[in-house]
Amino acid sequence: MSVQTPVTLLTPAGRHKLIEDGFYANYLAYFRKAEDTRRWKLHKDIPWELCKPDVPEDVAIMVEGYFAVESYLPDFVTEAMQMVRRSRGRAWFQANWGYEESKHAMAWETWLVTSGKRTQARMDEYADYLSEKQWTLPYDTPRRMIIYQMIQERATYLNYHNLAARADLEGDKALATALRIIAVDEIAHHGFFYKGVQLYLTYDTANTLDDIAHVLKSFAMPARNFLWNWNEFEDVVAKAGIYGAREHIRDVQNPILNALGYDNRRDLERAALRMRIAPDSIGPQDIPAWAKEAADRPADALVAYAGD
Ligand SMILES: [Fe+2]
Ligand SMILES: [Fe+2]
Repeated sequence: MSVQTPVTLLTPAGRHKLIEDGFYANYLAYFRKAEDTRRWKLHKDIPWELCKPDVPEDVAIMVEGYFAVESYLPDFVTEAMQMVRRSRGRAWFQANWGYEESKHAMAWETWLVTSGKRTQARMDEYADYLSEKQWTLPYDTPRRMIIYQMIQERATYLNYHNLAARADLEGDKALATALRIIAVDEIAHHGFFYKGVQLYLTYDTANTLDDIAHVLKSFAMPARNFLWNWNEFEDVVAKAGIYGAREHIRDVQNPILNALGYDNRRDLERAALRMRIAPDSIGPQDIPAWAKEAADRPADALVAYAGD
């Protein structure tokens, strides 16, 4: 069996093997690039002495919220690793991902304490509070989880990217530097997951489109209910124009959909429905255009039936 074999002729086991081989090849490329260009040191690469104690409180509330979400690292690693342990590429990625993520919560705590916005005692108390709760996977299959991770990492990138501009305005070079360095980690994570979703789309198109539609519809940021002030955090982040429903659609969801060849969520949902009646000659690269064809096609009856 080779990659030249038409996808429709592959057995489920053949498709699975090509997906898994792709994950591992993607991981090797990811790891090499990370080692060559992206490694950074918490104690050396961020100018902590340039923290500004007088930045407004809403910035501190945001950073403290990021600290809280990133603090669920042990659960993120354990739960995800358990699910993907038999996938070499994804399991090795999760191990490396865990190392990279471990520095993020530490960076936010360092900024909060060094800037004087929070005391170490409060951070310790918050860490204890967070450890009382256990995060569990929001989806129950590896394919849905990788779609979720792809979206979540881009959303996290957006949060840090946008807050970096605010940190510039406030003149806090330590926070701005940390946000930019960590934002690069997050978009690299997004890239690995995005390429994994592309593999699934290539070798299992219909089911993957269904799963993307499902996850886009039900997506929520992780551990949101575990923050001790989630409502305040969500409000502050939205009011500052950092991240809210509008930014999520415009700067997270739609760029992902556009990269995959779709205009918006409805466009992809329509393609998922039409894919169920697609002839074998329709490959994943043809689906976006095929799904946009004339309204009198049978698939539109299917779309209407499904309440689209
Ligand atoms: Fe992170
Ligand atoms: Fe990340």
